[in-house]
Amino acid sequence: MAIVKWLLVGAGEIANNRVAPSLAAAANSEIVAICDTRAEAAAALAKKFGVNQIYGDFEQALAESGADAVYLATPVALHVPHGLRVLESGKHLLVEKPLGLNATECQRLASAAQGSNKLAGCAYYRRHSEYYKFTKTMVENGEFGQIVGGYMNYFVYHKPDKSALNYWTVVREKAGGGLLCHLGSHILDIFIGLFDLPLSVCAQCGTLTNDWNIEDCAAIIIKLRNGALVTANFNWNSMTPVRHELEILGTRAKVSWGWPHDSEPLLKTVGHEVQKIEIQKVNNFGIPLVQDFVDAVLHNRQPLCTVAEAFKTSVLTDAIYRSAAEGREVKVIN
Ligand SMILES: NC(=O)c1ccc[n+]([C@@H]2O[C@H](COP(=O)([O-])OP(=O)(O)OC[C@H]3O[C@@H](n4cnc5c(N)ncnc54)[C@H](O)[C@@H]3O)[C@@H](O)[C@H]2O)c1
Repeated sequence: MAIVKWLLVGAGEIANNRVAPSLAAAANSEIVAICDTRAEAAAALAKKFGVNQIYGDFEQALAESGADAVYLATPVALHVPHGLRVLESGKHLLVEKPLGLNATECQRLASAAQGSNKLAGCAYYRRHSEYYKFTKTMVENGEFGQIVGGYMNYFVYHKPDKSALNYWTVVREKAGGGLLCHLGSHILDIFIGLFDLPLSVCAQCGTLTNDWNIEDCAAIIIKLRNGALVTANFNWNSMTPVRHELEILGTRAKVSWGWPHDSEPLLKTVGHEVQKIEIQKVNNFGIPLVQDFVDAVLHNRQPLCTVAEAFKTSVLTDAIYRSAAEGREVKVIN
């Protein structure tokens, strides 16, 4: 069986915790080169995974590494410019989320991906979770009846020190936006996967406890294509425990999930009867994401999380920001 050879760009937090272990663990997958402008970080990660090629310059790594595919695990402002270069250089692309700073620049990457004979994916790994798959099957089978509502809440405390490596996450020019881009995008992507882009959004964003130029909280009403109203609340500014919850409500049934990194059961309620569906714990969601991408390369098919699909989350996020800025309901699709 052929092997997909990876160049990993970025040796920061996600690369160490999730990406490099996934690229190494997936079948028929091998990291051949690591690139980071912080030479010592690239060298340390390379040593951990027995990788011989270490680069400090992205263009040199692209030209010399001999990789088939590139995983971009760098700050968001680099995703689109580097992603375009990866496709131009004739390599497959897997890029961290969110896809880019805004929908305008993401459109450029989505168009390049469409015109390329290489694969382009984005790390919205929750689409691989059993919670998502179970819910998607219920939607497809019409088990909810008519979808009439739902909610998503995601609260995580985030206050990086100004000297921290990841301070870029709270700087608009480097991250595109605040918690909507960083956290919210994951759960918005789930709703897009289930119901496609919604009709419209009505949102408020605030920066309550920080001096950042991005939001640290947001509240949104999302009108799905059938008119059902879904609400979303995101906070980065409370020191209380992490909370991640999602509920989808139909005329006949509802589904609720907790935090997908744990093995909390999915709750399926039909009428008044509640069923606890046990979900197998996954320690590293990067592995199914990478395995699907590697299999897609080897079997010449599209990956589950494509750049084209990730672009939709950027479109939705932009509409949310526009609604908050203009104080009105904003159409997402015509
Ligand atoms: N999938 C998820 O759930 C998840 C979670 C956290 C972060 N992320 C995403 O992963 C990406 C990286 O986040 P992180 O938390 O690891 O950030 P980080 O700041 O810890 O790491 C980023 C790394 O990129 C390197 N870098 C910066 N410019 C570079 C360049 N020009 N060439 C090569 N390397 C360069 C930095 O030196 C750093 O090591 C972001 O897109 C972020 O949104 C995804």
